[in-house]
Amino acid sequence: MVYLDYAASTPISDSALRVFTESSKRFYGNASSLHDAGSHAKEMLEACRRQFAQFVNGESKGIYFTSGGSESNHLALQSLIRAHSVKGKHLITTSTEHPSVTNTFLLLENEGYHVTWLPVDSTGMIRIKDLEEAITEETILVSIGHANSEIGTIQPLAQIGNIVKEKGILFHSDCVQTFGKVPINVKELGLDSLSISSHKLYGPKGVGACYISPHIRWEPSIPGTSHESGFRQGTVNVPGIAAFTVAAEEMVNNIDRNNNHFLSLRKQLLSELVEENWVVYEGHPTHSLPSIIGLRVKGIEGQYMMLELNGKGYAISTGSACSTGKQAPSKTMISIGRSPDEARELIRISLGVTTTTDEIKGFISDIKIILSIMKSVKT
Ligand SMILES: Cc1ncc(COP(=O)(O)O)c(C=O)c1O
Repeated sequence: MVYLDYAASTPISDSALRVFTESSKRFYGNASSLHDAGSHAKEMLEACRRQFAQFVNGESKGIYFTSGGSESNHLALQSLIRAHSVKGKHLITTSTEHPSVTNTFLLLENEGYHVTWLPVDSTGMIRIKDLEEAITEETILVSIGHANSEIGTIQPLAQIGNIVKEKGILFHSDCVQTFGKVPINVKELGLDSLSISSHKLYGPKGVGACYISPHIRWEPSIPGTSHESGFRQGTVNVPGIAAFTVAAEEMVNNIDRNNNHFLSLRKQLLSELVEENWVVYEGHPTHSLPSIIGLRVKGIEGQYMMLELNGKGYAISTGSACSTGKQAPSKTMISIGRSPDEARELIRISLGVTTTTDEIKGFISDIKIILSIMKSVKT
């Protein structure tokens, strides 16, 4: 199987797996226990916290470990918004966020908060003017994902951060697809909080992190929570966090090398496929994650392409999950102005650090075979 779905999940790296196994045996104590086994686990946990703080140029007091990107988004948003609701009830996000962000805002809408869902242009980028016009005296928080997981468009966080900071509004970003692939510096980007997930960067599944500036007030989502300074319930997964830290370090230290690799594979793929007049590139031409390539094969459902490619030994993804037989149109594709039928055509190819030029060559050749069969059937 040639795996081209690294934006969905990655295999654990050798070093992360080694650290996970060793830590599971050495740091098995509950980090909240006061005996020596607990203290050892706590020392390891705090070392990981310090390292994550360095990765984002933040303070270690602001790092909270969670079960993944979804939980980080949910807890960060809830904890911040609830603590600042006396100032106002207006929130701003975009129409192309991950469901963990969208669903949190829908929940808050039901509780009486007013949410502005910023539209995006045909490349998936928000318009700064829309953001400026949406801000009111009542706005307490803006949440804009760093990169879209379906088409890879990267939002201008530093520019957004400047606008938002000037008005004293909190700024959260879902950085699950970008952390370890794009340098993230909370001070330069003006971020008060962000979310990260381990399984997107060769760490174990079920682990994540969240950064909330220690200078910002937040309230525990569930009163009485004691772990992670009240941020999250549940015994902290120290071995998972240690492995996540090692995996993250490998990615953060190799951003340039990996991006050069992704860019050359991306060029190879796009130059061969987009010249096929049935294949359309979706996403921003320049402000895009090199490892995510959104494509649309005209007239063919993404789900069909995914299954055909699976039959030939390739794992890719469609924009969204199948719902009761008929593929649901991708929310991102609808937001960038595609019709529901066009939206269902999206396929996502996402590259990994071990993806080779030969794998991409084979993929191009097999997708061309599928396309030529389609063409002959359709014409
Ligand atoms: C942009 C984005 N945010 C959040 C998540 C959720 O992360 P996790 O699977 O760790 O909950 C994902 C996963 O697909 C994602 O792509």
